[in-house]
Parts: sequence; C-alpha cells; structure tokens
Amino acid sequence: MGVLDGMVAIVTGGGQGVGYGIARAFADEGAKLVLTGRVLEKLDGKAEQLRAQGAEVITVAGDVRQRGAAKDTVARAIEAFGRIDVLVNNAQSTPTHVSFEQQTDEQLESVIGSGLFGTIYFMQEAHAALAKQGGSIINMGSLMGVQGGLGSGSYAAAKEGIRGVSRAAARDWGKDGIRINTICPGAKSEGFMEFFVQNPEELPKYESQLALRRFAECYEDVGRIAVYLASPDCFITGQTLHVDGGQVMP
Ligand SMILES: NC(=O)c1ccc[n+]([C@@H]2O[C@H](COP(=O)([O-])OP(=O)(O)OC[C@H]3O[C@@H](n4cnc5c(N)ncnc54)[C@H](O)[C@@H]3O)[C@@H](O)[C@H]2O)c1
Repeated sequence: MGVLDGMVAIVTGGGQGVGYGIARAFADEGAKLVLTGRVLEKLDGKAEQLRAQGAEVITVAGDVRQRGAAKDTVARAIEAFGRIDVLVNNAQSTPTHVSFEQQTDEQLESVIGSGLFGTIYFMQEAHAALAKQGGSIINMGSLMGVQGGLGSGSYAAAKEGIRGVSRAAARDWGKDGIRINTICPGAKSEGFMEFFVQNPEELPKYESQLALRRFAECYEDVGRIAVYLASPDCFITGQTLHVDGGQVMP
C-alpha cells in the first residue's frame, strides 16, 4: 500500500530535475501521473521509466505560458483517470542571470510567464477537479526570491508572486479541502548543476556552507517532502518549506 494509492497527480515540467524526482517519488507511493512539458519525446522517455516502476502515466505536450496548456492537461487527466488529487507546478524557464535593468521583454515574458502565469493558469483550471474530493497543490519558490540574488529580478518576481498566490489561494480554497504549499528547493537538478558541471571546484565550497553539508537530491529529498505534502494525512497549508540542506533559515 502506498500513501498516494489511487490518487492522480499532474506534474508540470516533469521531464527532468525536481519535477521528475517528484514524479518518481509519487510513483513509488501508488499515484497515477500526468507529466506535462514542452518536449513530448523527453516526457515519453521518463514516462516509460515510471511505467517500469508500475505506475500508470500519461504525457501531455504543452507550454505552461499558455492557458490552453492548462486546460488541455486538466481535460486529458480527467479523460484518462477521472479525477485530479495533486497538482505540482514545477515548470520554470531558467533565470537569465542578466542584470535587472538589461532584462528584455522576451526574458521577462519567458521567466514570469512560465513561473507565475503558468502556476496561476494550472491552479485555476484544476480547481474544480481538486475541489470535488479535496487535494493538494505544491508550487515552487526559490531562495532567489526569498533573499534576492544577483541578476535574479524577473525570476524573483515570478517566485515571490508564486508564494503570494499560494498563500492567498490557500485561504480561499481551504473551504474546498485544497491545501497549497510552496517548496523552495536547493536540489541537484540538471538545471541547477549546469554551473557546477562547468565549475566543479565550486560545489564543495557551496556545500560546505550548508548546515547538512550537501544539496538535496531531487528524488530522495525533494520527492519525499512532496509525497508528504500531497498525502491525505498532511494538515499543512499556506506554508513554504525550504528543502535545501539548511541553506535558508528564515
Ligand atoms: N534545483 C534547485 O535547486 C532549485 C532552486 C530554486 C528553485 N527551483 C525551482 O524548482 C523547479 C524545478 O527546478 P529544476 O532545478 O528541476 O529546473 P530544470 O530547469 O532542471 O527543470 C525545469 C523544467 O521546466 C520545464 N519548463 C521550462 N519552461 C517551461 C514552459 N514554458 N512550459 C513547460 N515546461 C517548461 C523545463 O523544460 C524543465 O523540464 C523550478 O520551478 C525552479 O524554479 C529549483
């Protein structure tokens, strides 16, 4: 028996990194999965791996910056599995690391569109299905939003917008039995590790600053926390959890 047996979870940006780590952890606990992202072949490859674990999985191609992607993913989830219990808004285009005054409209649209608007579109479109039996939404914030960071202007705007809408909707939708929490990971995803692959000598320096002396693993660490937040036993809502080995202690 898994703690998510019979439950249906949508994971955006589920083809790699934290999103796929969460999907794997959900599959371990018996969830049926809807993976969405922009590149269908990548999602299908990961779906095969999850099916080998015994999970039922469908994939839906879409760009979360478009409301149509949220509508389509929700419709496909209902068509395939008949319900939605968990929504993980994980998709986010990479931060620009360009000084804020130089960030172009295209960069703003990509970063805020994928992070903040994508999260809002999926929350709104999934609300009715989640409210039928209650459920859990897990959104993704960041240290760069909570504390600021060089060149992180648009990314921080997206991530703090996400935390804001998570708290507001947690109050609105608690009456519907929907809990909404934000995870701020510090996790070794493909995106996160790009810098350290180029600069391997920097990883031990960064990790030595962490209370637990290592960044999180996407599956073992972030995935397990996401399972807890998704599980029917969890009584937490409107909160931010920093799953980063003890980097941020607000
Ligand atoms: N890894 C970390 O330490 C860390 C730190 C802070 C915040 N986060 C947040 O956690 C989440 C996952 O991060 P990650 O490190 O795994 O990132 P990643 O870059 O490895 O993965 C992000 C995924 O989102 C997808 N995506 C991007 N734009 C999209 C769009 N418009 N439509 C659909 N899919 C899109 C990408 O294709 C990719 O699959 C993100 O929201 C990120 O901001 C991660």
